[in-house]
Amino acid sequence: MTNLAGKTVLLTGASRGLGVYLAHALAREQTTVVCVSRFKSGLDTTCAQIKALGGKGISIPFDITNMTELSILTTQINKIAGPVDILINNAGIELYRNFVDYSLEEMQLVVSTNLLAAMEITRLLLPSMLERRSGHIVNIASVAGKKGVAYNSIYSASKAGLIMWTDAIRQELADTDVNVSAICPGYVNKVGMTFNTHVPLPLLAGISTPKKVANAVIKSLKQNQTEVIVNQSPITEHLTKIMFAIGQICPEFLDTIYRLIGVVKLNKMRTENLTSIEMLPTYMKKQLKNTSLT
Ligand SMILES: NC(=O)c1ccc[n+]([C@@H]2O[C@H](COP(=O)([O-])OP(=O)(O)OC[C@H]3O[C@@H](n4cnc5c(N)ncnc54)[C@H](OP(=O)(O)O)[C@@H]3O)[C@@H](O)[C@H]2O)c1
Repeated sequence: MTNLAGKTVLLTGASRGLGVYLAHALAREQTTVVCVSRFKSGLDTTCAQIKALGGKGISIPFDITNMTELSILTTQINKIAGPVDILINNAGIELYRNFVDYSLEEMQLVVSTNLLAAMEITRLLLPSMLERRSGHIVNIASVAGKKGVAYNSIYSASKAGLIMWTDAIRQELADTDVNVSAICPGYVNKVGMTFNTHVPLPLLAGISTPKKVANAVIKSLKQNQTEVIVNQSPITEHLTKIMFAIGQICPEFLDTIYRLIGVVKLNKMRTENLTSIEMLPTYMKKQLKNTSLT
């Protein structure tokens, strides 16, 4: 899809965080963005911003974990905005815990929001895309789906599932005009779930901006990219890919790297809600003297 103008996009998780940046980028492409998330106030703000940027925004508050009613949502969208050309499964949640401390309900909530809802919305919209011989599904995954993340294991599992499901349906859809992409951001600053924990980000892992993630989504639509790692720079993106390739051969090596750059310690801090500077890796203590927490 080289030209996105006039396309109808369903964007989940549009009320805050990365979703707002995605909505802005889609508005600049003059699309109609159907914005879905649970709370109306954030959606209305996003829609006003979309309008100001030259697009059209439609706000539909809906809890996507309400699986049995997702077909009502997609029918409603079809009536209001016409058939969906682009689906961006962006809504997501994470809960930091020791694995044994998760309740069954918490595990179900994370997997339903991050994986099952994306699958079900896609299942409902795909027949129309196939019939019209045009469509693109973008799944916002994470590098947490490429390498397990301690104390965020259910999130990691849901994102790994999202990446593998994307990989599988891409092969099923290879002979059709419907494309599918997985976007895998690393740590993102300024807004979003990681930033909101108010725990420092492990700078050696490479930090990207929400704008970079939004640009990557637009590029994936225009260039039909399959799987995209978003990191600080093209060099760190390549290094991340090489690290994951090494991790396939020797997972323990990557465990050591994650421990050394502070991923495990920082997630433990998130789990225990601790913000003691003493727990930080030494390189971060030095950096913190000169910078803010992010
Ligand atoms: N931020 C990062 O560092 C980072 C890194 C890699 C990947 N990602 C991925 O990027 C995506 C966006 O994350 P974010 O950082 O922007 O998170 P965020 O700021 O917490 O925003 C999450 C969005 O999802 C919506 N949402 C959550 N549960 C929902 C539900 N049951 N039904 C409908 N909407 C729901 C929220 O809206 P309501 O609360 O209004 O429902 C909100 O709009 C996620 O898939 C995340 O896994 C983020």
